[in-house]
Amino acid sequence: MTRPGPKPYYVTTPLYYVNAPPHLGHAYTTVIADVLARYQRLRRGAAGVWFLTGTDEHGQKIQQAAAAAGQSPQAFADAIVPNFQNLWAALNISYDDFIRTTEPRHRQSVQAALTRLFQQGQIVKDHYEGWYCTPCETFWPKLVFAGPGGQPAAPVCPDCRRPVEQITEENYFFPLEPHRRWLVDHIRAQETFILPATRRNEVLAFLEQPLTPLCISRPTARLSWGIPLPSPPFEPGYVTYVWFDALLNYITAVGYPTVDARWPADAHLIGKDILRPHAVYWPIMLRALGLPPPATIAVHGWWLVEGEKMSKSKGNVVDPNVVVGEFGVDAYRYFLLREIPFGQDGTFSEAALERRYTDDLANDLGNLVYRMLTMVEKYFNGVLPLCPSVAPGLRGELIGRAIEACDFQAALNAIWQTVTEANMLVDKRKPWVLVKGGAAEKQQLAETMGTLANSLRAVAVWLWPFMPATSENIWRQLGCPGVPSDVEWDMAWTSRMADDQRIQKSPPLFPRRS
Ligand code: MSP
Repeated sequence: MTRPGPKPYYVTTPLYYVNAPPHLGHAYTTVIADVLARYQRLRRGAAGVWFLTGTDEHGQKIQQAAAAAGQSPQAFADAIVPNFQNLWAALNISYDDFIRTTEPRHRQSVQAALTRLFQQGQIVKDHYEGWYCTPCETFWPKLVFAGPGGQPAAPVCPDCRRPVEQITEENYFFPLEPHRRWLVDHIRAQETFILPATRRNEVLAFLEQPLTPLCISRPTARLSWGIPLPSPPFEPGYVTYVWFDALLNYITAVGYPTVDARWPADAHLIGKDILRPHAVYWPIMLRALGLPPPATIAVHGWWLVEGEKMSKSKGNVVDPNVVVGEFGVDAYRYFLLREIPFGQDGTFSEAALERRYTDDLANDLGNLVYRMLTMVEKYFNGVLPLCPSVAPGLRGELIGRAIEACDFQAALNAIWQTVTEANMLVDKRKPWVLVKGGAAEKQQLAETMGTLANSLRAVAVWLWPFMPATSENIWRQLGCPGVPSDVEWDMAWTSRMADDQRIQKSPPLFPRRS
């Protein structure tokens, strides 16, 4: 498929494993990608953005989960996938494409990439001896297991500390080392290739050592649930390593073996646990295929629950559906992005969410909208007085730059500064006193209401990437025509309300929780 026109902004989430239904961590990555996609739609129009998400359905983990459930891996995956799609609908995730690694389009793309690399001599067969960690699906060629006092210790994976098994196998390998120097130079030259800088430094430190070849096959005797290596040119009896399969989804979705104007991707959103495959294997795979690397790999931290990693065995997995049912979708989205700085770990707790709900959403924002519109109803018969002043321009630029740099907390802080200033203006001007005064006071009252209305209009547009339903609600209540996403980002603060808009006041945006 060839799509003419300028390059659209292309943003992706990782493909989620379907061994279990989605949790808080998956919701977090996806909400961030949605914020970036929506922000870019305000800047470029809906046609200028492509947002991809989907599911990673092959590999040992899924095969084992399916076996435990007494189902075929495909039937198991088919049953889990709607859990992701339903959650994305509940979270207002505006993806354009949902890719599953079991789709024919992806199998064709992976097999085409493998064939090409093999024919170019970039994949070689070799004998392998070493250790294998099944949960991480990772080979460890040389491991020394030393316990206290140099005693031999049980063989465990250096990454996850779970037992590894010793294996000897013939496999296909993709040499990474020939590309290492290029990758180091690329990371050094492109400051925003890996965000934030701590992760960039981590990758550069890792790249100081030579890279061992990546084993990209698994004998079907050990793993059958994967995309077969095409035979010929490969020998029969192998499937593709799950990471080699999954990473290629980002180009399958834009038409590989030919790629259209969407490539290279502008932003791959990932969590810190999957940095190495994305920042090392993936750019090298692309280079070997003759394709440019993505512009940015944006790496977020982890949500912990009571200071611990979420896991089924600990029983502390937070189901987003339950939290959304209780607090509403926008409070949930807001909390995830406001509570922790991008890139850092954070702790999820209902008490913290409750605080944000009450202080920021119900008191600051919800109350401002409600009391302002109540005054317009009372003092102006529900028609907004004209006000030529617009919201502070510098702030809009700052918010935009913060979103582009993935500093969502700073963007929301700046939006809330506008909300706080609006609340302060009401307290200072005291409209309920002005309304009792003469012509000069009445003039001041009208100006105050107009200023508030223009600020709230800007806030509605700025909030659209973060809290689309709330943004649209404020917009409707202000009596603005259309939807906030009709407005171009810059116009949020450089233009103003139309004259004589009739407001449509509704109940408070964030009702108090009893
Ligand atoms: N299937 C691979 C990705 C392949 S991409 C070509 C995978 N899937 S995953 O389902 O395990 O994780 C996907 C995303 O969820 C990652 O970005 C990961 O960081 C994120 N999270 C999973 N648990 C998390 C938390 N507790 N907190 C924040 N995000 C975490 O990896």
